[in-house]
Amino acid sequence: MEILKQDIAPSRRVPAAKIQFPPEDRAWIAERIQEVLASGQLTLGKYGAEFEQQFAQVCGTRHAIAVNSGTSALEIILRVLGTEGKDVLVPTNTFFATAAAVVHAGGRPVLVDMDPESFAVRPEDVEKTLTPKTAGLIVVHIGGIVSRRMPELQEWARKKGLWLVEDAAHAHGSSYNGVRAGSFGIAGAFSFYPTKVMTSGEGGMIVTSDDRMAEEARMYRDQGKASFTQNAHVRMGYNWRLSEPHAIIGLRHLARLPAMMTDRQQIAAFYDAGLKGLRNLSPVEVPAGGVCNYYKYIVVLTQKQDRRALKALLRDQYGVALAGERCMRNRCTSSRCSNHTRPVRFRRRKTTAPGTCVFRSFREWTKLRPARFWTR
Ligand SMILES: Cc1ncc(COP(=O)(O)O)c(C=O)c1O
Repeated sequence: MEILKQDIAPSRRVPAAKIQFPPEDRAWIAERIQEVLASGQLTLGKYGAEFEQQFAQVCGTRHAIAVNSGTSALEIILRVLGTEGKDVLVPTNTFFATAAAVVHAGGRPVLVDMDPESFAVRPEDVEKTLTPKTAGLIVVHIGGIVSRRMPELQEWARKKGLWLVEDAAHAHGSSYNGVRAGSFGIAGAFSFYPTKVMTSGEGGMIVTSDDRMAEEARMYRDQGKASFTQNAHVRMGYNWRLSEPHAIIGLRHLARLPAMMTDRQQIAAFYDAGLKGLRNLSPVEVPAGGVCNYYKYIVVLTQKQDRRALKALLRDQYGVALAGERCMRNRCTSSRCSNHTRPVRFRRRKTTAPGTCVFRSFREWTKLRPARFWTR
């Protein structure tokens, strides 16, 4: 097989996933957790505020609001935007939570095909999918790649009078032409789930430069209270708060983000060199002017490629860790576990439909819902 001829150093061993908390970071975190335990302020305290301020700086936005997951970040944004009873355009190639958040916020996800070249949505496909009830569009930066078509999508949404929200769960630190992921639209949602490029254990962040969005999001995350100290509930919020220990972990990882991105970029360059010029294989490229955090390294295969043989070869001869190699969940050994971390993902290019569809139709999604809830 032709990959054998490629110059991939067998001595390089690329782990599937390695969460980086070296001893000095663990000590830093433990010291501050001791401090908050002693103080008794375990939620919505100074570390949460510092995490928000530093994260906003990284994204180039005026505000950041820390929450307890990427899913809640999305739902809060959609609630603030008043999605109830409206249609929201969502890419087919995403994680469950993107579409689920729309439904939880009372809206209807309408699926937009993805571009098999970039794995992102294209303005022409978005235009085709528009419905009379469309309120806005969610874009997802799959694998940490910000599409070169983001400015066109921004312009399209502006012209149509629709909002643009970014599901930036994969894209901490990524950018295109100097514009940071999370700052293209009215708001962006990040996840700090442990498989992500940076983590806080569990957690999420809303970033926005819109003062009203920030103010409302703060209310929604804390049971819809008008303020932390008031027991007046003015919105239908929920407990979406991030605890101080989680904020402390996140703060430490945020400081490590540039170094962790450099590591991933070096590994990606190693893959790029090794896979270059191979027939039937094309890595999804980061556009010129783009910075990618390489949450995932995605390679598209044509139908002709023997996927299994290629994977075995990369793993056995070159030590390259592939999809499903190691799970971040305790005690999980299944190579089929969907929770495995995936630095290299092989996707087969389809001739008619895009590579992966999480939901092929809204109806398929609705089957997951309890019938009583649905018919109410
Ligand atoms: C694209 C995307 N959106 C949203 C989420 C949800 O994030 P969380 O697990 O923090 O709720 C994820 C998490 O994997 C994701 O990959």
